[in-house]
Amino acid sequence: MKSYNEYLDMVNSAIRAIDYPQQPAQLYEPIIYTMGLGGKRLRPVLTLMACEALGGDPAQALDAAVGLELFHNFTLLHDDVMDHADVRRGQPTVHRRWNDNVAILSGDTMFALATRYVQRVEDQYLPQAIGLFNRTAIEIMEGQQWDMDFELRHDVSEDEYIEMIRLKTSVLLGCACEMGAIIAGANENDRRAMYDMGMYMGLAFQLQDDMLDVWGDPATFGKEVGGDIMNNKKTFLLIHAQERAQGDDALELRRWLNDPYALRDQKYPAVRAIYERLGLRELSEQAIARYNDMALEALSRLSLGDAARQTFADLIASLTNREK
Ligand code: IPE
Ligand code: IPE
Ligand code: MG
Ligand code: MG
Ligand code: MG
Repeated sequence: MKSYNEYLDMVNSAIRAIDYPQQPAQLYEPIIYTMGLGGKRLRPVLTLMACEALGGDPAQALDAAVGLELFHNFTLLHDDVMDHADVRRGQPTVHRRWNDNVAILSGDTMFALATRYVQRVEDQYLPQAIGLFNRTAIEIMEGQQWDMDFELRHDVSEDEYIEMIRLKTSVLLGCACEMGAIIAGANENDRRAMYDMGMYMGLAFQLQDDMLDVWGDPATFGKEVGGDIMNNKKTFLLIHAQERAQGDDALELRRWLNDPYALRDQKYPAVRAIYERLGLRELSEQAIARYNDMALEALSRLSLGDAARQTFADLIASLTNREK
């Protein structure tokens, strides 16, 4: 098995080798800009790792891995329009640097390019690979719509939240892992366990993202903080705040949620302070630990050698401490 950084190098060389047309510049420049800003490349790295762990050649999985990263970056272009987010990976988002129309159309193009890359898998694995990819893509759109619907609701339950993040975030990590397994020619049991491991990692990953949106350092995180609070996103934190808040905290929280003109400098620190008073940071960390344990349980079901098992266990542990 290779290290995360070695898989990352493979992914980055393949992404650098993507040959984009030059015109229309307003279509392709934002794509080149986005793909050039890096990011963790977690999904394609998972695909290569999963493939090699199950006895496949990671080079054979590289096109599909690039496809998943193109797809992920497409979702970010549209997500930043939907979330009114101005900064990503430490740089202006595409809709801010260009405009909403550019973000929509460049994003659409990235989705089609993503399919083109996933389609390059060996013929014998193509139906499985495309089936998994298409199902995952639709689920992500469903999750994104729930996320938007929930902004306007005040009675979202924890179960509804978990299902929403499973769809918008976790299924892509599950897909990335299973894609590697498919290309390794793995059996049904290993494919399923790979998917589950990625999926549970994804739940912990989104819970952590929601925490970083409140307590992260923008310089490291690469995104502005406080966006979820400003958008009334029904995160694990907000749902539990609504449940736990009493007296003045409850009144204050309700006032912030119902004030469309609230200023970021006031609402964000005030709601963050409520979360802190209610001990929600700790509650969220406990939930992350539970989903990590479920990812480790899925890992234990995989037929892997010791080195591969350790590589995944280390990755799961490192994502919990991530600050970006
Ligand atoms: C951001 O994904 C969107 C979420 C699912 C939270 P990442 O945190 O993987 O973003 P990059 O690709 O590393 O920038
Ligand atoms: C993103 O969730 C999920 C997808 C992009 C599909 P967020 O909206 O929390 O992601 P960030 O924080 O903007 O990266
Ligand atoms: Mg979003
Ligand atoms: Mg967002
Ligand atoms: Mg977020």
